[in-house]
Amino acid sequence: GDDGYRLWQRYDKVQDAEKLKNYQQSVSELVIEGNSPTLSVAQKELTVGLTGLLGKAVPVSQRLTQQSAVVAGTPANSALIASLNLAERLNSLGDEGYLILTANTNGKKSTVIAANTDIGVLYGSFHFLRLLQTQQSISNLSIASAPKIKHRVLNHWDNLDRTVERGYAGFSLWDWHKLPDYIDQRYIDYARANASIGINGTVLTNVNANALVLTKEYLVKVAALADAFRPYGLRVYLTARFSAPIELGGLKTADPLDPQVQAWWKDKTEEIYSYVPDFGGFLVKANSEGQPGPQNYGRNHADGANMLADAVAPRGGIVMWRAFVYDDKEPDDRAKQAYNEFKPLDGTFRKNVLVQVKNGAIDFQPREPFHPLFGAMPQTPIMMEFQITQEYLGQGTHLAYLSPLFKEVLTSDTYAKGKGSTVAKVIDGTLDNHTLTGIAGVSNIGNDRNWTGHQFGQANWYSFGRLAWDHTLSSEAIADEWLKMTFTNNNQFVAPVKNMMLGSHEALVNYMTPLGLHHIMGWSHHYGPGPWIKDKHRADWTSVYYHRADEEGIGFDRTATGSNAIAQYFPPVQKQFRVIKKCPEKYLLWFHHVKWNRKMDSGRILWDELCHRYSGGVDSVRQMQQTWNTVQGLIDQERFDQVQSFLKIQEKEAKWWRDACLLYFQTFSKRPIPQDLEKPA
Ligand code: GCU
Repeated sequence: GDDGYRLWQRYDKVQDAEKLKNYQQSVSELVIEGNSPTLSVAQKELTVGLTGLLGKAVPVSQRLTQQSAVVAGTPANSALIASLNLAERLNSLGDEGYLILTANTNGKKSTVIAANTDIGVLYGSFHFLRLLQTQQSISNLSIASAPKIKHRVLNHWDNLDRTVERGYAGFSLWDWHKLPDYIDQRYIDYARANASIGINGTVLTNVNANALVLTKEYLVKVAALADAFRPYGLRVYLTARFSAPIELGGLKTADPLDPQVQAWWKDKTEEIYSYVPDFGGFLVKANSEGQPGPQNYGRNHADGANMLADAVAPRGGIVMWRAFVYDDKEPDDRAKQAYNEFKPLDGTFRKNVLVQVKNGAIDFQPREPFHPLFGAMPQTPIMMEFQITQEYLGQGTHLAYLSPLFKEVLTSDTYAKGKGSTVAKVIDGTLDNHTLTGIAGVSNIGNDRNWTGHQFGQANWYSFGRLAWDHTLSSEAIADEWLKMTFTNNNQFVAPVKNMMLGSHEALVNYMTPLGLHHIMGWSHHYGPGPWIKDKHRADWTSVYYHRADEEGIGFDRTATGSNAIAQYFPPVQKQFRVIKKCPEKYLLWFHHVKWNRKMDSGRILWDELCHRYSGGVDSVRQMQQTWNTVQGLIDQERFDQVQSFLKIQEKEAKWWRDACLLYFQTFSKRPIPQDLEKPA
C-alpha cells in the first residue's frame, strides 16, 4: 500500500517516455570530490533519487570520467568547481544559496550544483531532484537561489510525555524513552524532508515549557537528535521555562535582573553547548496564558529576553521571544494587548533577540488581518509565527491549503514606511535593514505513518518551507510542484486538484468564520462551532466576546467608537478599515459592528449575505468532493480513499458549522434563511 510516508520525496521512475530518455542521457554519473557528513548525505540523496527517477543505476565517482555528469560541490572542496570561476556568482548567495548550471567542465558538458558551503550543495541537490520530479527541462540550466530569511524554523509543541499540544497526527516524533541510544530512521527522514524545503531550525519542545528538558538527562537525548539532524543543516533549539532557575536550580527567584539568576542561565547555557555545540538558542513564551515570565518580578519582556540573549550570545545563539501575550485582568480588547506591551520596548532588546509575532492579533484564526506589530518596531527584528497545524481550521480532517493564508499575510501592506512596506519586507529584514531574520511555523507533524494525519497536511508543511525560503513564490506554483512530487505529473490529476487546493482555505473561512468573524469555536479544544459560548471561566475565552451579536447586528467594533484597536495600524491602513463602506468585507466583522439589514457588495443585506457565505462554504466542500471523485484511478487507491473519507467528514462538519452558526445567529437577527438556500437541519 501507499501510506504517504515518503511525503514529496518520491523518486519513482519518470513516467513520460520522452522525458525519461532525455534525463537518462543528461545524467551519466555523479561526481562529488569533497568529503563531509553533509556531502555524503547529498551524495546519498542524489544517488537514491536519480537511480529511482531514471530507472537505472547512476555511478558515483570522485573524478569526472564521462559526458553528462552531475558535479556537486564547493570551490573549496572540488577542483572541478573551482575551475569554473564562479566566485562572483556565488558571492551574493551566502551560506545557504546555490547555483545549478549547465556548464563545460574539462571539455565535458555537465550539470553543476555549486555552493559556498556543503549545506548549499545539499539544498541545490534537492532542487535538482525537484526539477526531475516535476519533469522540468534540465538541458540548459542557469539557476541561482538563496533564502530571503535566515532562520526558517519549525516549532514543535511537543511535550516530554509525547503528547503534542494542538497536534492531530499522532504522538511526538521524539521518542525520549529510547534516546539517546536509538536513532529512529524517522529522525533522518524528518531532517531530509526539512532540508529538501530549506527549513534550517527546529524547536523540539512546547512553548508551554517543561524545565526538565534542560536537565542533563534530557540534554544527552537532545544532543543525539542534534547529531542526527546536523548533516542536514537542521539546528536544534529548545523552549526555556522562565522559572527553571527555581525549579531546577533551587534559587528563590527567577528575576532576570538578579545576578544569581543570570549566572544560572549562563552556566546552563554553557552546559547545553557542551552537548550541542551548534545549539541555536531559546524560544520563550512568557507571561502569557499562565506561563511564568519577567513580569512576575516587575520586569518587562526585554529584561527577560536580554538575560537569555546574554547567555547564548558568546556562542552565537539567538532568543526568539514570543509576543503572544494577553491577560483577562486587562479590560482592554485582547487584540490590542501585544502591541501595547511590546511597542514601547522597541530598541531595548539585545542584538540577538527576535520578537516572534503571530500572523494576527488574536490567535491563528481561519482569517485575521495582519498583526499591527509588523512594521511597528523598526529597531527590533520581528519574526513571523504561522500555525501549520490546523488548530482552528478543521484540525486533522479538513483539507485546507494554507499557502494562500500565508501569502495574504505576507503581502499585506503595513505602510510603515509608505506604500509597499509589506509584512514580508518587515520579516525578511529589507524594510528596516535587519540581517537577523526569522520565520516560524507551528508544526503539524506527528508519528502518524503519513506524518501529518491528512495527506494534504503535507502540503502545508511543504508550502511553509518553500515560502520561508522565498516568499515571492505563488501559492499556485507551490501547489503545482507539491502535487507533482507527491502524487503524479498527470495533468488530469494536477489541474483539477490544484484548483481544489487553491479554493480550499476560502471555503473553510466561509463555513466557519465568514466576513471577519473569529474565535467562535468550541471552548478550549477549538473543534467545531460554539458561537453561543459565554459562561465559562473568562470573558476573552468566550465566543460572545468576539462576535457581539445582538438584535441590531453583529461584529466587534474596533474603531474609535469601540476598542479603537484600529489605531494601532499606520494611518493608510486605518483608512482602509475605518469606515464600514470601505472596509474589505473579509475583515468587516473584525472591525465593525454591522446592522443586520446593511446592504453588502452583493446587494444582499448582511444577514442574507452571512447565510450565503455559510451555505457557499458547504457547497464548496461538495465541489471539492466531486473534483476528488473524478481523479480516482489516477493515483494509488490508499491515499485516494483516505482523502475521500476525510472530505466526507469535512462536508458533514461544514454543514454542522453552517447550521449551528446560522441557527444561533438567527436568534438575534430574527430573519429567515433566504428561500434559495438549503435549510439548516
Ligand atoms: C493558542 C493555543 C494554545 C497555545 C497558545 C500559544 O492559544 O490554543 O494551545 O499554547 O496558542 O501559542 O502559546
